[in-house]
Amino acid sequence: MLQRFGLLICTILLLPACARDEPGSDDYDPARDYFSFANTDQFVTEHLALDLVVDFDTRRLWGKARLDMQRLDPESTEIVLDTRDLSITAVTIIVNEQSVRPADFRFAESDSVKGTPLVIGLPENMAGANKFSVAIAYATSPQSTALQWLPPELTAGKKHPMVFSQSQAIHARSWVPLQDTPAVRITYEATITTPGTLLAVMSADNDPLADRDGSYFFEMPQPIPSYLLAIAVGNIYFAPLGDQTGVYAEPELLDASADEFADTQDMLDQAEQLFGPYEWGRYDLLVLPPSFPYGGMENPRLSFITPSLLAGDRSLVAVIAHELAHSWSGNLVTNATWRDGWLNEGVTSYLESRLMEVIYDKNRVDEERVLSYEELLLDFEQVSPNMQALAPRLDSGDPDDFQATIHYHKGQLFLQFLENAFGREAFDRFLAGYFRDFAFQTITTERFLEYLDENLLSAADAPVSRGQVEQWLYQPGLPDDAPIPRSATLDAAARMAGAWAAGELDLDEVPVAEWSPHALIHFINSVPRDIGNDRLGELDATFGLSATNNAEIARTWFIQVANRRYTTAYPQLEAHLARYGRGRLITPVYAALVANGVDLARAQAIFEKVHSNYHPLVEAAIARTL
Ligand code: BES
Ligand code: ZN
Repeated sequence: MLQRFGLLICTILLLPACARDEPGSDDYDPARDYFSFANTDQFVTEHLALDLVVDFDTRRLWGKARLDMQRLDPESTEIVLDTRDLSITAVTIIVNEQSVRPADFRFAESDSVKGTPLVIGLPENMAGANKFSVAIAYATSPQSTALQWLPPELTAGKKHPMVFSQSQAIHARSWVPLQDTPAVRITYEATITTPGTLLAVMSADNDPLADRDGSYFFEMPQPIPSYLLAIAVGNIYFAPLGDQTGVYAEPELLDASADEFADTQDMLDQAEQLFGPYEWGRYDLLVLPPSFPYGGMENPRLSFITPSLLAGDRSLVAVIAHELAHSWSGNLVTNATWRDGWLNEGVTSYLESRLMEVIYDKNRVDEERVLSYEELLLDFEQVSPNMQALAPRLDSGDPDDFQATIHYHKGQLFLQFLENAFGREAFDRFLAGYFRDFAFQTITTERFLEYLDENLLSAADAPVSRGQVEQWLYQPGLPDDAPIPRSATLDAAARMAGAWAAGELDLDEVPVAEWSPHALIHFINSVPRDIGNDRLGELDATFGLSATNNAEIARTWFIQVANRRYTTAYPQLEAHLARYGRGRLITPVYAALVANGVDLARAQAIFEKVHSNYHPLVEAAIARTL
């Protein structure tokens, strides 16, 4: 019944990310990647060699990609690769130096989400060669969904242009023709040519001491899924943080970044203690301009990071712990398809909280857990029941939209539940074994369940049954015995918000100076709905909310400002929407302006003014909201 209701909501709203879930239609295959055209049962890529020129004038990368492939099915004569908005000028098949031959190629029918299949015909009589290379001469389009080409004005220094990629989930195909599915892992090498002294960095073996001579060579010896291919080019410099860690940023942000992220080496050391060896060599950060669409992206060896974490007090570095933790959950053991995204994001959110507990203290992490849980409850109100499963049936829609909060926070609670049931020691042993046994492999939810069964659930005295686990994985909402996070500090903050609203407490009695940003966020969210604007003004003036440099406090505050139409702060709200480009910080503020029933036109006018500051993916998401 619940599931049918979910389907009904999906049909009415025509939600793109809704799964087909008709009872009885059982050709759904959880191991299949419905978001790639590549015929990976016939061919797999083992290595990629890129030779690309970065052309800021035409906003294109152009050059050559060579895919070293293996034919799994000797009868197969057509390779299908994923592309989006690429122009292809030539394809050659290389069996060996004596055999280099042009190949026929054509584009098949495009799909608005998945892009355009590139079909390459193998020349006849390849003498049964089942190992060969495909060399593709191509150029990207200025509209590549993975690449943002920034004019100098949108950088910190305002003198040099910059370009960066965001390949997850299915955008790698818009800058490289390849098998764009997490099911295939490749090693790669790249030669990147840049203008002037602009430095190129990649998700590979960056050399902090590289000569800035416009020619950069990279190698990535560990096999990675395509969504972890990454590049950035700009006026970026390096500062070391520890033996194995450092940060890249524009010079204007370098000192602030090195200071904010000073704990990174410590995080890496602690992570190895908890989760097992770090398999990737160096771990560096790249701090990007504000239009970077996410908080962070776990590109291997080089996480890409939003500058909105630079709060000045290290209060937002959970994002760093999160991206680092992906070096185990995600980059080492990878979700088989985007439907299994919880295996990347949920497991990582749990590891992040474990890491934060060691580096900082449990109280702080409990506060973060409570805030995540409250976001999850809000999400349950908005997501149809069949999409509330950790691993729903997903064979259509856009993987960028898949139940984000559910994957993260419900996934985190699921692992917390297992930890509580089996005890921390046994569960830590299980996790370390999981990372060891599946290292450099991909895994479906069903394989995870089997492994959990073999290693924990099947013991005679196991405190958790397979049925309970299946409820977490396949049913909506939370089981009754889900571990609900608590924080005494946050409870006190909520009580004080109520007492202040009721006139029983003055704001100067609120110990905000002793509070973390999380407690203040919780206070703001706990202010009763019916409070007058004069009281909000008092709150704003006392706590300096409209002027805060903490992006998460600002996000919380301006959502409430829009919800309650506290128009006095609208100029600062507008400044917030111009200042930040990370989707999480701005999309819900636009949504709140729309939802208050009065400010749609105002939201559209602001968007009109500032949308060119935004990343195309965030811009498109806000345009849909409006
Ligand atoms: N891998 C994600 C970002 C992502 C998710 C990109 C889905 C494309 C599709 C990254 O690790 C992430 O989770 N970022 C979060 C950080 C937060 C949860 C600590 C973000 O950007 O907010
Ligand atoms: Zn993540």
